[in-house]
Amino acid sequence: MITQKTIQQVIDIAKIEDVVGDYVNLTRRGVNLLGLCPFHDEKTPSFTVSPAKNIFKCFGCGRGGDPIGFIIEHEHISYPEAIRFLARKYNVEIEESGNTEEEIEKKLVTDSLYIVNEYAKNYYTEILLNDEEGRTIGLSYFKGRNLQNATIKKFQLGYALNAKDDFTQSALKKKYNIDHLHKLGLTTQSGFDFFRSRVMFTIHNLSGKVVGFAGRILTSQTKFPKYINSPESEIYNKSEILYGLYFAKEAVRKQDECILVEGYLDVISLHQSGIENVVATSGTSLTKRQIQLIKRFTSNIKILYDGDAAGIKAALRGLDLVLEADMNVKLVLLPDGHDPDSFLADQGSSKFTEFLETHEEDFIFFKTKILLDESQNDPIKKSMVIRDIVDSIAKMPDAFKRTLYLRQCSHMLAIDESTLVSEVNKSIRALRKSKSLERQRENEDKVSQVEDEWLVTKPIFVDKETPIIRNDAWVERAVCSILINFADKYYNLENQTTIASYIVQETSELLDFFDIELYKTIISESQNALAQGITLNAQWYIAHADENIRSFAVNALSTPYVYASWEERQMFLQTQKMPEENFIRDADNAIQRLILKKSRKLIVQLEAYFAAANEEQKSSADYELNIKVYQQLIRERNRIASILGTVTLH
Ligand code: CTP
Ligand code: MN
Repeated sequence: MITQKTIQQVIDIAKIEDVVGDYVNLTRRGVNLLGLCPFHDEKTPSFTVSPAKNIFKCFGCGRGGDPIGFIIEHEHISYPEAIRFLARKYNVEIEESGNTEEEIEKKLVTDSLYIVNEYAKNYYTEILLNDEEGRTIGLSYFKGRNLQNATIKKFQLGYALNAKDDFTQSALKKKYNIDHLHKLGLTTQSGFDFFRSRVMFTIHNLSGKVVGFAGRILTSQTKFPKYINSPESEIYNKSEILYGLYFAKEAVRKQDECILVEGYLDVISLHQSGIENVVATSGTSLTKRQIQLIKRFTSNIKILYDGDAAGIKAALRGLDLVLEADMNVKLVLLPDGHDPDSFLADQGSSKFTEFLETHEEDFIFFKTKILLDESQNDPIKKSMVIRDIVDSIAKMPDAFKRTLYLRQCSHMLAIDESTLVSEVNKSIRALRKSKSLERQRENEDKVSQVEDEWLVTKPIFVDKETPIIRNDAWVERAVCSILINFADKYYNLENQTTIASYIVQETSELLDFFDIELYKTIISESQNALAQGITLNAQWYIAHADENIRSFAVNALSTPYVYASWEERQMFLQTQKMPEENFIRDADNAIQRLILKKSRKLIVQLEAYFAAANEEQKSSADYELNIKVYQQLIRERNRIASILGTVTLH
């Protein structure tokens, strides 16, 4: 592990304008620098660099961060890799600390699994290109499928000989460990090669390391499966891999769209013809993890499936998951009997591209049409169709989008829009109910953001960057935002209390009742540091190893007045001081609101506890204590409520 000291050196030395300047042409604009965003296509610059805050922020696509964050995004590398990258740039010597034995052990195993897979890849590609059987059978097969040498090399295609253990023997001769060969599924328990007499597809993870293989049979014998795959292993989790994403990610981001196909060869041949933003699910339906993976690069998915019944079914399957992730889904059905690869071979690439452009359909409308066709004039079937569509629309987190879809679908289904709206609302409530059970810990922040604008009423434009958060999340967020913005400023000059120490002190009893884990972590890290006499400031949070903390800190810094907008919402902004001058009052205000919220919640909980207590419990010491706490909380609540002059908060 890289030591904290090295990380700190990198943080201290890396200048945002230097780091970004290596990639983006920046011009000065006031105190900031301005350029064209490297993360999305734009013609007028909205990418801003603030040397003073040492951060970048794009007001077009919303990305932002410190030098480390920039490198992570731009180079698609991990946090430690970015530290190393910057350390090299600035000639900082990298110091490593010893890990626990267990960690070292685990790292060694995964490292060696990658090494073994790398060897296997080299073996199979070597056979394909240079072995007699490989060339006459494997290579000529790929040539027959119109693949050029460069494509074959790029995708690291290979061939497994028709022999019982040629690969295994060669690996053992090279001193590779038999356990590793078993683990990766390259060698069977009885010592035979797993892949035999098949053409080989190498499967990579997002950073291009080999995680597994797929082998396609060449005969038409149906008693063997057409494709066989490496089993899951410590380095291969099938639900987290999309075939081709390593080669596609740059194009996906640039074109802001990811094309989804089913087959390995579909990916490869589209790529060869210049359509590079394409990945495959390998014949299974999309998982949540895969969707999240795509979402790192784009929110637009275009699905290309065979136009037969099976293809349509496959396209409809699992698609609600994509809607739930707030992605836009388009569908292109290819003429019956064609998959992307065969259609491309048939039509040539320019006709193919034209077809994609002229035949794309919105997924929801497509689904409505298909189901409607099926139901004909049967009213029972039709009501099931409505149910189905309503359920899909209900899964979209964006209220505005839901409203648009409802309008269009009400035309298509020939039902009154308001009926459809109330159906969707019902479905949303049902969803919420079932979700509230499972959600508890995970993603609380996101869920509460969504809840506020969850029900369909009328079109509401929601600014995704600064979501309105109801309940405690909002106040917890405000406190953290102030902490990050003003940590080392003085709250009280006389006794030298800083904002950080004020916030830490005031929240110390409340941390256990925080709703949002992220905010709790931010404050408790500050608390631990203060205990050692260190005040963590903005620079520390924006360079944090945790991506969520990093992005929260960057947003807090680039929009410092968002936290201050509760009561000010009704006030004229011109009459307000800028938050930079108002942080003491803002800190007080935020803390008071936090205490108010938490005491109200505890009061309700305690009342429930008193009501449910039996006689025995009522005479216990705990009960006594709780009554005291309760009285104190009531007093505290009344005191703060009167300071804030509000009775309407909940
Ligand atoms: N698949 C699989 N195992 C099978 C059949 C299919 O894993 N037994 C996956 C593969 O990822 C395959 C995809 O499903 O690429 C689509 O299957 P299919 O259409 O049968 O194959 P193609 O990709 O079209 O392969 P080819 O063009 O070589 O026939
Ligand atoms: Mn095919």
